[in-house]
Amino acid sequence: MPPIEIKPNVYWIGVNDRTTDLFEGLWPITQEGVSYNAYLIDDEKKAIIDLAKALKTDEFFGQIDQVTDISKLDYVVVNHMEPDHSGVLTTLRRIAPQVTILGTEKTRAMLASFYGITEGVQVVQDGETLSLGQHTLQFVYTPFVHWPETMVTYETGEQILFSCDAFGSYGAFRGAIFDDECIDPVFYEREALRYYVNIVAVFSRPVLKAIEKLASVPVSVIAPSHGLVWRKNPGHIVELYRKWAEYATGPTEAGVTLVYGSMYGNTEKMMNAVAQGISEEDVPVSIFDVTHTHVSYILPSLWTQRGVIVGAPTYEGSLFPPMVQVLEMAAVKKIQNKQAARFGSYGWSGGAQRHFEQLVEPLKWELAGSFEFVGSPTEEDLRHGEAFGAQFARLIKGDGETG
Ligand code: FEO
Repeated sequence: MPPIEIKPNVYWIGVNDRTTDLFEGLWPITQEGVSYNAYLIDDEKKAIIDLAKALKTDEFFGQIDQVTDISKLDYVVVNHMEPDHSGVLTTLRRIAPQVTILGTEKTRAMLASFYGITEGVQVVQDGETLSLGQHTLQFVYTPFVHWPETMVTYETGEQILFSCDAFGSYGAFRGAIFDDECIDPVFYEREALRYYVNIVAVFSRPVLKAIEKLASVPVSVIAPSHGLVWRKNPGHIVELYRKWAEYATGPTEAGVTLVYGSMYGNTEKMMNAVAQGISEEDVPVSIFDVTHTHVSYILPSLWTQRGVIVGAPTYEGSLFPPMVQVLEMAAVKKIQNKQAARFGSYGWSGGAQRHFEQLVEPLKWELAGSFEFVGSPTEEDLRHGEAFGAQFARLIKGDGETG
């Protein structure tokens, strides 16, 4: 994509990535893509804020060339060291050795450990300002949004917040980079939530601290390092992030994540009965088959919804392994304080329930009931499952108990 001027002499120069399958080598983006947004301020002193993954480097450096002579660059602001934003640094250093790299003290250490860069690095302090001529940058430390070295950069005249991972989302650009030009905001909001839960949610407390720290700063544009540039309504993405961060410890939405796995369809039959019971109570339910759905897509529902029902059979005396992987990732992502229940089939001895309880014990999930059935569910079993689902839904609505 060509450079896009977001304010006078401030340009988006990012990379639109539609070729990577797994973000961080872990999270699927084959269908959605992602952008690595970088920005160039063309002033008396010339600065790039954030870089990009080492991908499409000819295109990346070509964008800079379209605005200014790359040999005249003065600064690179490294808000965050993760290689999706710093990957082209070594190449940049080769073609523009005069550039001074700006970052926190922790960034300085990471530049050495990730890239062997020890020269031409200048540490900036929290709140420090730097004049480029007509534009002034202010650096604000925001540790653990996403890594410990992370900061954001604020351009004081145009009131642009270069927020790096904060307020970012998956989703490559579909022609428009601005919120007011985007014709499918639902896609980006969904992908912002998935990105938040996959990448940032463990650091929800630092996210809330950063939002609080920046609350008095007037912002006309939020320019994150992934996803839309927010200039029509920058407060919208901030409020979404605040809401999602508060879900880490506060109340969540009155809905149910019904996550199931089934070897031969018996647990799936019961899942349909349980879902029917939930629906009868008009409680929203999101259903995921763990054998067909990557956990990346399940985590947002687990994060935002109050109730979790796990449907999974016994497998060799333990819980069905694909379900184990989902619950283990939920533990990695610290998805806590849920109302939970489980059902599943077994062939002869069971064992899944005990394993399930071991897995969710550290998550502080409150277990509100369980039941198992042998082999294929009978009509009576299915009626029980439907009632079980309805009872759980009433609990989630706040007017019932399960057993
Ligand atoms: Fe987009 Fe934490 O890197």
